[in-house]
Amino acid sequence: MKFFVDTAEIADIRDLAETGLLDGVTTNPSLVAKSGRQFIDLVKEICEVVDGPVSAEVASTDFDTMLAEGKFLSTLAPNIAVKVPLTPAGLKVCKTLSRDGTMVNVTLCFSAAQALLAAKAGATFVSPFVGRLDDVGENGMNLIADIAQIYAMYDEIDTQILVASIRHPIHLIEAAKLGADVATMPPAVIRSLFNHPLTDKGLAQFVADWAKTGQTIPTLPAGKKTKSVVL
Ligand code: E4P
Repeated sequence: MKFFVDTAEIADIRDLAETGLLDGVTTNPSLVAKSGRQFIDLVKEICEVVDGPVSAEVASTDFDTMLAEGKFLSTLAPNIAVKVPLTPAGLKVCKTLSRDGTMVNVTLCFSAAQALLAAKAGATFVSPFVGRLDDVGENGMNLIADIAQIYAMYDEIDTQILVASIRHPIHLIEAAKLGADVATMPPAVIRSLFNHPLTDKGLAQFVADWAKTGQTIPTLPAGKKTKSVVL
């Protein structure tokens, strides 16, 4: 399963990229507005930090302007995934850009029927928003289950399920159990995945017990190759 971070904060993206566990980035107009950054500069900078897909969303809603914006965004870096809304015009843009070999992320998906349309339009990714469905009293994870079941029935569908609007680690675990391809998570959710109180407690115990042995493990000088080392 691929892990994307859902943010427009470059400091968080740099920090998480350093873990070596980040596979991509998603942004949206609300996140860009919150960052206060100039969108095009920001997208270029993110693409320099992360090799995997970076979703950059079009701002217009009519076909011609969305297509023109999408084409421009796709020139910014080879790893751009143009993000378009799940509307008739958005899907038409998706079909056009996908045919030309551009990655497309179809966003704001709230039903299995919409996900089927996104696949038919050749989307690289479809983004069902689980948290926002939970917010209105529906079960977001049921949508992921439905989409996964439907996509698995058809060999010709290679659209990846990108679970979006993730609010907590349980969303991630449930999505992983359903075989979702990608999870995009806010930085705080990704960081919370590392934590367990028993890990902290166990480590403190190991450190304390090791100190009692009075021993140290030899370390190699920086840059020294680790193969065939004889001490
Ligand atoms: C995904 O691409 C969206 O940017 C995101 O997951 C939306 O999440 P929210 O519902 O927390 O705003």
